[in-house]
Formats: sequence, structure tokens, C-alpha cells
Amino acid sequence: MESLHAFFKIILPKYLRSLPMPKTLAGYAKLSGEDWMNLIPFVLIVMFMVYSVGKTILSRRKTVPKPKVNQSIQKEDSKVVTQMDIEDIGDKMAFCRCWRSKKFPLCDGSHNQHNSAARDNVGPLLLLRNADDK
Ligand code: FES
Repeated sequence: MESLHAFFKIILPKYLRSLPMPKTLAGYAKLSGEDWMNLIPFVLIVMFMVYSVGKTILSRRKTVPKPKVNQSIQKEDSKVVTQMDIEDIGDKMAFCRCWRSKKFPLCDGSHNQHNSAARDNVGPLLLLRNADDK
């Protein structure tokens, strides 16, 4: 603990005071080659700190998960595929398009709760057999 105290209270301030930091921008043009060589470690450390902070901030943005359409249906599968015989559809069938139905792939009305909560407007796909086809 004492070495940390010495570093921040004595060594670091002494090092910073020793840096050839001109008070004006024009002063940098008057620095000698040796002055610039003394500045290089300090500039590299500052650049590394800025890079590290920026990278940390950007990486946090990337880790925020994007909302998923499918919240719970067959999550163990790489793809949800439903196959039905068209003859089993009957005269009318409603297929879920909101991915919230407990009877998926059929609509159970869960889209109403989703629409209220998310201020959305999704609804089912209705398949109707044309009465003329019978
Ligand atoms: S429950 Fe999903 S569309 Fe109706």
C-alpha cells in the first residue's frame, strides 16, 4: 500500500512535471528531438488508455442481446419447421405468426397479449377453404 502511495503521490507527479509540455500549440514546434523522445512513452500510455476505454465501451454495446422473434418454441432445434398435410387443414385454420402461441404452429390468441404489451399488430395466417372448391 505504501508503494502505491509513493507512486501516485511522488513518482507520478515528478514524472509528469519532468515532461516537456509546452503551454501553447506553437511550443510543440520548438521541442527538440530529445524532448519528443521523452514524450513518446507518455503519449503511448495515454493512447493505450483511450483505446482500452473505447474498446470496453464498444464491447459492452455488442454484448447486449438483440430481441429474438422466437422466445420459447423448440429452442433446442437449429430451425423450427412445421409440416402439415393440406388435407388435415379442414375449412379454416389459423397459424401463429407471433411465435407466442402455446399451440404453435396454430394460433391460440396469444398475439393479443403480445400486441398489447409491445404495442404491435401481429396476427395469425388464416387459411380458408373456398366453399366453391367443395
Ligand atoms: S397466437 Fe401467434 S398469431 Fe395468434
